[in-house]
Amino acid sequence: MVLNNLMAKMITKKRSVDDFLEEYWPVRFKWNPNCGPDEEERYRTFMESKFSREILSELKLKREEYNEILSRRFSENILSKKKHLEFMDFVYKTGLYEHVSPYDNFKSRETLRILLNYFDTFEEPFTLADLGCGHGKIALGLLLYSDKVKKAYGIDILPSAIQVSDLELSRISEENQKDLDGRIEFIEGDYHSEELLEEFKKHEPNGADIVLAAYPQTYLNFLLPTMKNYTNKNGRLITVFPEDISEIHDAPSPSEFLKGMEEIVLNYYRERGNEHGLDFNLVELVPLYNEAIVVFEGSINY
Ligand SMILES: C[S@@+](CC[C@H](N)C(=O)[O-])C[C@H]1O[C@@H](n2cnc3c(N)ncnc32)[C@H](O)[C@@H]1O
Repeated sequence: MVLNNLMAKMITKKRSVDDFLEEYWPVRFKWNPNCGPDEEERYRTFMESKFSREILSELKLKREEYNEILSRRFSENILSKKKHLEFMDFVYKTGLYEHVSPYDNFKSRETLRILLNYFDTFEEPFTLADLGCGHGKIALGLLLYSDKVKKAYGIDILPSAIQVSDLELSRISEENQKDLDGRIEFIEGDYHSEELLEEFKKHEPNGADIVLAAYPQTYLNFLLPTMKNYTNKNGRLITVFPEDISEIHDAPSPSEFLKGMEEIVLNYYRERGNEHGLDFNLVELVPLYNEAIVVFEGSINY
């Protein structure tokens, strides 16, 4: 495990979401489709100074494989699941996870921004289970910004993800850590397994108020019953998926295109939701050049 700099991050309490993100998740490299060769060169030089040539070539290879898996996102199969986990394990173990690309980093940070704004509208305090928490920065960010999050559980199948999440926790200043004391728990295990559900229920016998799955890389039909198992009866399920919107660049009206896309994904979710006794609403569809970050909220229908 490559340990990154353990600079403690001191987060000032209650600021705007954007100010909070500036402190908690500063952007080292700008990402936008036209950022230009200077920014790309700056990123390349940084990567070469931080990681060995072997790691960078392995990243290139694994990334190609991974992109291939992403293009088959809805054709869930054992092989693509295995390849996906291998890729994630590699980026957590090498410390590459926050630098894989300026775009991925930006997308993760943007996801946290959307969720912070969304959770800010909640009136009651809530418990949160983050299924497939990865590096843990989303769960930690939610806890640090919002005192409405009573307790958060980050669950991941990869020991390397749990190690990185603990590392991210240790990077937070002592004062902020005191604030988080007892409010965060990272649990290693397969969220589809009975054992993990049992372990989780020891902490939250009735389930969590909010169950989050951000970029779970799995089929909704597998995910929804599992998410339901972790939710209490009045709880909400929040999913974050990327959607390919590359055709938007040829659309005569990008806003019409996005409206059409919202309808398509909403119908898809409503159909899947119906099969599992869930009602879904679209929270946000935020375009990011070729992709959109799509956030849905579901609740159990009785
Ligand atoms: C693409 S990452 C997303 C991480 C995080 N949610 C984020 O948005 O930054 C997916 C994560 O889900 C985890 N994962 C996949 N299948 C899982 C399972 N069955 N049980 C627990 N974690 C799982 C992977 O190890 C990986 O860390």
